[in-house]
Amino acid sequence: MRSYKVALLPGDGIGPEVVGVAAEILTYLAERFGFTLQMEEALIGGAAYDRYGHPLPEHTLALCKESDAVLLGAVGGPKWDTVQPASLRPEVGALLPLRKELGLYANLRPAKLSSALASASSLRADLVQDGLDILVVRELTGGIYFGQPKGRDADGSRAVDTCVYTRPEIERILRVGFETARGRKRKLCSVDKANVLETSRLWREVAEQMAAQYPDVELTHMLVDNCAMQLVRDPRQFDVIVTENMFGDILSDEAAMITGSLGMLPSASLGDRQTQGGTFGLYEPVHGSAPTIAGQNIANPLATLLSAAMLLRYSLGETKAAEALERAVEKALQDGLRTADIAAPGQPTIGTKEMGQAVRERIES
Ligand code: IPM
Ligand code: MG
Repeated sequence: MRSYKVALLPGDGIGPEVVGVAAEILTYLAERFGFTLQMEEALIGGAAYDRYGHPLPEHTLALCKESDAVLLGAVGGPKWDTVQPASLRPEVGALLPLRKELGLYANLRPAKLSSALASASSLRADLVQDGLDILVVRELTGGIYFGQPKGRDADGSRAVDTCVYTRPEIERILRVGFETARGRKRKLCSVDKANVLETSRLWREVAEQMAAQYPDVELTHMLVDNCAMQLVRDPRQFDVIVTENMFGDILSDEAAMITGSLGMLPSASLGDRQTQGGTFGLYEPVHGSAPTIAGQNIANPLATLLSAAMLLRYSLGETKAAEALERAVEKALQDGLRTADIAAPGQPTIGTKEMGQAVRERIES
């Protein structure tokens, strides 16, 4: 029997609730589709800091390394925003080193709006009524997030961050961009700031050189400020956007918001390590830990369920289970089931667990 190991990192805020729902559905899918899942849980983020004094304990990292895939809820919250030193706060102390240590350089953030939810978008109906389907491919382990030198002068009067990219780092992420575009509408928009930044000029040069290997993909370049504008002017022009770490951080939030349903968006972070079914990866909803609604059974679990579907597809190679889960989510939406965040004014809402139950009932083999 096909058998996989999945690390569950619920984290903080609404993380445990949404990961709890996803774990139950994964167990159910394993039974239905004939594979076994060994799921093991570990602490990360503020929860780990409170218990062990570090947001990324060694055993948590070790568990991830010996697993085929990782499902993460969310980390952080006001309780840990003032932890000193700042390097022990959940975001920089857990999330960034986790990505770096696991070599997860390719972050896929699909911004999809199903036509059932078109009214949730902040854009005019005529721009989104047919739905939206954009994939942001963000470089995740380089650029200004990690470049050295980084820090503050001893007297506190000057701070520095460094943006560095090497040719191999750019090549491997662009390859992901070209390859994913191939499986979609074959349009790749490479986003940079080549009119100002040296790293962007190298980025554009590498993209131009690689284009020859992908004659079937239409490559365009766009400056990041223009891209931010084009996303709200007419998002239908985009298929795959590939960009560096910080631009991708910003543009993926923008792309998420125009779908109007942050609570719906999954993400995958992939590296090079191969598993028996695909590529090792970390999967997490794009929304954060939402501390103000934690523990109330009102969070939307669909982003985490769609992340679990990506996990099944990319890391385990369980495509049928992935498709069944995605179809069940779509069906639940079509049937009018809504958590509070995606409900139209006056529309009845259901809770986190009830949404999980509704999706589960709609899974067909
Ligand atoms: C994200 C987040 C993180 C990032 C933060 C929490 C460090 O904004 O995953 O987009 O900037 O990468
Ligand atoms: Mg972000």
